[in-house]
Amino acid sequence: MIELSPATLRERMHEALQIYVAAMGYPPSVARRRAPMWAEHALRPGWKAVAAVLEPDDPLRGVSKLAPHRAPLVGIAYGYSGAPSQWWYRQVWAALESGQGEFNAERALENYFELTELHVHPDAQGMGVGQALITALLDARPENSVLLSTPEIGAEDNRAWRLYRRLGFADVLRHFQFDGDPRPFAVLGRELPL
Ligand SMILES: CC(C)(COP(=O)(O)OP(=O)(O)OC[C@H]1O[C@@H](n2cnc3c(N)ncnc32)[C@H](O)[C@@H]1OP(=O)(O)O)[C@@H](O)C(=O)NCCC(=O)NCCS
Repeated sequence: MIELSPATLRERMHEALQIYVAAMGYPPSVARRRAPMWAEHALRPGWKAVAAVLEPDDPLRGVSKLAPHRAPLVGIAYGYSGAPSQWWYRQVWAALESGQGEFNAERALENYFELTELHVHPDAQGMGVGQALITALLDARPENSVLLSTPEIGAEDNRAWRLYRRLGFADVLRHFQFDGDPRPFAVLGRELPL
């Protein structure tokens, strides 16, 4: 597990975005469109990123289709401090303010870390890498809480949902639609420290 500086993320952006598109099942063209957004996020206050890398003797190196690299990335997670100037903050604030969910908007969004991205390459999923990434990312954060959004999945039956529930994330909003995206999302959160 390594912590990435903004400069290191920029250098390894292509590799990090390959994990993102592979994990989410998106076409490769999505990676190119995401690069400027991820680079901009790295400039936000409180930004932190961690990555999981394969050691030279890791057996996965033999079977994985990952790009050859001194220490290839297999997982990436980052986030930053939430703030009223951010689109995500304003979307969630408006929903809570209108009575969706059971939380007071000011209190829920008072001092939180937004867990923005968490992805593990499919070849490395199901081995605890995602949990190790979240744990490293949220270690020693100054915020009171952590919030994230994740697509709604029937019966909460995927690895992301199982991971968040195992770590004690609770419902903040359910079946919420962000502007411009027809998919229903859940906003989940928990107090820090983990
Ligand atoms: C969601 C995601 C990040 C979770 O990462 P992961 O490494 O696959 O999952 P976890 O860290 O939770 O691993 C848990 C699994 O590892 C196993 N495991 C093995 N050793 C472990 C350890 N030391 N600690 C924890 N789990 C361990 C568990 O038994 C569990 O297996 P199961 O899911 O079959 O029950 C990953 O699956 C992913 O990238 N999915 C696609 C993208 C996505 O959905 N991202 C989130 C969008 S909001």
